[in-house]
Amino acid sequence: MSQDAPQKIVGVPRESFPGERRVALVPAHVAALKKAGFAVLVERAAGVRAGYLDDEYTAAGAELADSRDVVFDQADVVLQVRAAGANRHAGADDINRLHNGQTLIAICDPLAQADFMQDIAARGATTFALELVPRITRAQSMDVLSSQASIGGYKAVLSAAAQLPRMCPMMMTAAGTIAPARFFILGAGVAGLQAIATAKRLGAVVWAYDVRPAVKEEVQSLGAKFLELDLVKSADGQSGGYAKEMDDEFYRKQREAMTKLIAESDVVITTAAIPGRRAPILVTEDMVREMPEGSVLIDMAAESGGNCEITDAGEVTIKHGVTIDGTINLPATVPYHSSQTYSKNVVTFLLHLQNENALDADSDDEIVQGTLVTRDGEVVNARVRDVLGLAPRIPSEAATETSTSSEVPEASAATAAEAAADTPQADTSDANSTMSDEAPPREANPE
Ligand code: NAI
Repeated sequence: MSQDAPQKIVGVPRESFPGERRVALVPAHVAALKKAGFAVLVERAAGVRAGYLDDEYTAAGAELADSRDVVFDQADVVLQVRAAGANRHAGADDINRLHNGQTLIAICDPLAQADFMQDIAARGATTFALELVPRITRAQSMDVLSSQASIGGYKAVLSAAAQLPRMCPMMMTAAGTIAPARFFILGAGVAGLQAIATAKRLGAVVWAYDVRPAVKEEVQSLGAKFLELDLVKSADGQSGGYAKEMDDEFYRKQREAMTKLIAESDVVITTAAIPGRRAPILVTEDMVREMPEGSVLIDMAAESGGNCEITDAGEVTIKHGVTIDGTINLPATVPYHSSQTYSKNVVTFLLHLQNENALDADSDDEIVQGTLVTRDGEVVNARVRDVLGLAPRIPSEAATETSTSSEVPEASAATAAEAAADTPQADTSDANSTMSDEAPPREANPE
């Protein structure tokens, strides 16, 4: 921002998604915005559910607003965690609070809930949807999906351990030896790799599988075993480094090949996602029936339809003696650190927009182009236009050409693996399904 430009106000309303405890900006990051020339206006009690008090915001130089309306009235830039389609019930009213020339930066679910983007465009506001940050190296510090999925994967394991009637680590005690719990992590992207690392730290025996053979060595570098299925030849599981949707026959074979391992697992955590598609069904009701009594399945893909056939999104149920957890907002259950990392991502992103002058004008920058969804009364993002059935604005612009963070290249998954161990190079393998030969017997010495 040039010295003589009018000071822009960054507004932070309290989150309104049911159960949401995160806040988009934490007090520690107010100074960076002030230094960059912004004023900061925070709705009273916006951070309290995450452990950030009003006094901390004012001590850092922010102003407090007494109501949500004041924030929306005065802010030039509104920062939120869940807005528009990502908060389609409670947050819909906020769209009517947006005004011409205002900029919204938030998770918006623009591909699955594209209609909201048209409504925002009609208000004349500019929207940057953070889930569309491309997963390229220079955007890693802005990648909210990675920072939040990593926390989700961590919390999924803790939640499973808490609900499991067993211990996780092997223990040799005077009262006998306790066998370690067996975890199976399905999908080794950002959430899956963090789940693997966390389960290993708890002492569990961990297996994992992903359709992208490239992640095999990352899984192994974390101390887990990679389930090898004779399903995917070499790089067939990916498209430019991203998981691609397989056909029904593939999923049928995959389920069949995983049945034995799932039946032997105390905890199954499913994170398998295909960008822009319903999550594939990888665990059927029959497979759940085969799981041990008291075992736990955490379906992290619940919000996009679920990887398990009998998951109830947003609910924890017990079916066939198995706890099936479809909790949809795990990062919100660790709100202090999920807010801290989200805030770091969003402030880095905002400062990047400022450097690119992208708050006020178009920019060719890949990060700006990937995330900009509405501007000047129009939906401008090629992928969102495609979903809405709108013609491309630039004839040569194909929606699928844009690399976005809903597509997951190996680089971002590697970041999660690096959190716990060095990340080796990719490898592929087509061996037949193999099972553990290292886990001690389940009840080595039950008495
Ligand atoms: P990601 O895209 O990094 O990872 C998904 C992985 O699933 C990819 O590695 C992909 O190759 C793999 N995959 C796709 N199809 C598969 C199949 N048939 N078998 C095995 N693996 C397959 O996604 P990320 O960020 O790790 O998130 C994973 C899921 O967790 C997403 O659905 C996300 O929305 C969800 N999530 C849920 C949270 C919650 O609170 N429940 C919190 C954070 C993320």
